[in-house]
Amino acid sequence: MKKKIIVAPSILAADFLNLETELNRLVEGDIKWLHYDVMDGHFVPNISFGKEILKQIKRKYDFYYDVHIMVTNPEHAAKELIEAGADLITFHYEACENPKSTIETIKSLSEDISVGMSIKPYTSVDEIVQYLPYLDLVLVMSVEPGAGGQKFDIEALDKIEQLRSIIDEEGYDCLIEVDGGINDLTGSDSVMAGADILVAGTYIFKSFDVKEAVEKIYENLELEDDE
Ligand code: DX5
Ligand code: ZN
Repeated sequence: MKKKIIVAPSILAADFLNLETELNRLVEGDIKWLHYDVMDGHFVPNISFGKEILKQIKRKYDFYYDVHIMVTNPEHAAKELIEAGADLITFHYEACENPKSTIETIKSLSEDISVGMSIKPYTSVDEIVQYLPYLDLVLVMSVEPGAGGQKFDIEALDKIEQLRSIIDEEGYDCLIEVDGGINDLTGSDSVMAGADILVAGTYIFKSFDVKEAVEKIYENLELEDDE
């Protein structure tokens, strides 16, 4: 399969005592997207990090900053994170009363911002189809948001397939991202189902060689293609 995959390592799985070394490994591994998970301890039980760390990383590293906000008040968090350097803000559908107005508010904060919407494992694709024309990205959670290192829920594959066919049929300009439990196998399955971007925390940061870890996903795709 010739499809180009974007792998977005989730910094949540990095060794924070050696953050610079970890980020350098990503650069050496040709990684272009950095997935930055913001948790508020309310929408999800954990608290992760906020704008200050993003600002500092951005000062030194030229990634595409893919910011996933697992927060109860997405519009407030989006403003702070856009100021800190986010390129893409992905909020949770489940966190808003009026998702269309949340999309519009975030878009109004900056000319250059891209907006994504994420759905938890129990949320169906049908619920969010109406918002696809206004989104730059849709994020399918393949684990319950809130922590790294969980097991991939294969039901995410059906959702990705469903989204792929709607987006292609309607000609929407909306990327599909998947997040949670991604490794070389679940990653290639997700790409086969139609995903454009794979978020991978544990798999990438715990790998010995980042480039090889990405290569493995491509190798599995070729194997699946031969079957
Ligand atoms: C979970 C986060 C994910 C997480 C992925 O709530 O949104 O981005 O860091 O971690 P892994 O790849 O370890 O499942
Ligand atoms: Zn995430």
